[in-house]
Amino acid sequence: VCVFCLAHRTDPAWAERAVDELDRVLVDHAHCEMKAAASALSLAARSVWAPALVRPLSELAREELAHFERILDEIEARGLELGAPPVDDYAARLLQTAKSAKSAATGKERLVDRLLCGALIEARSCERFKLLAEALATRGMQREHELYRELMASEAGHYTLLRKLAIDIAGDEAAAQARLEELAAIEAEINATLGDGAAIHG
Ligand SMILES: [Fe+2]
Ligand SMILES: [Fe+2]
Repeated sequence: VCVFCLAHRTDPAWAERAVDELDRVLVDHAHCEMKAAASALSLAARSVWAPALVRPLSELAREELAHFERILDEIEARGLELGAPPVDDYAARLLQTAKSAKSAATGKERLVDRLLCGALIEARSCERFKLLAEALATRGMQREHELYRELMASEAGHYTLLRKLAIDIAGDEAAAQARLEELAAIEAEINATLGDGAAIHG
């Protein structure tokens, strides 16, 4: 369901490298979940004029924090350390492009863009968790397979939620969808440029 908006598919070879370097991927992934929670809270705090967003974004932040703690459990069980957050070129470039493409944008347009970028990041996570879950199953890593399969379903739900909130705020489904597709083209370029390292988004 969630891959429909993505304009570039991840090379399945990425998942093989990710399983080979699962320790590195888990550390990167933990930071992604924490950033997803922080980003949902930051959007909630800046949506005072759109009160309908506050509760769903707060609930989203709670779910992302629960994901963070599950990956943190995994990291600790493996004797790894969380360490400092890695440079996140993927999200930074996506959000930067979204903002600069709309430098004269209103607060509402910027919020719609932020929600749509969030939706795309969730869709990409969902796509990659699916590939990773499949590669883990092939290698007989059943526990890790189940973890990623469950997270994949959860991120698909987050994609649907953020897209819906963007449409609600935009008040125009066709316009929000058109903007989602513009941003998806940008996301595809970023993903294709840096998307094959042992990290969730590249
Ligand atoms: Fe998550
Ligand atoms: Fe998510």
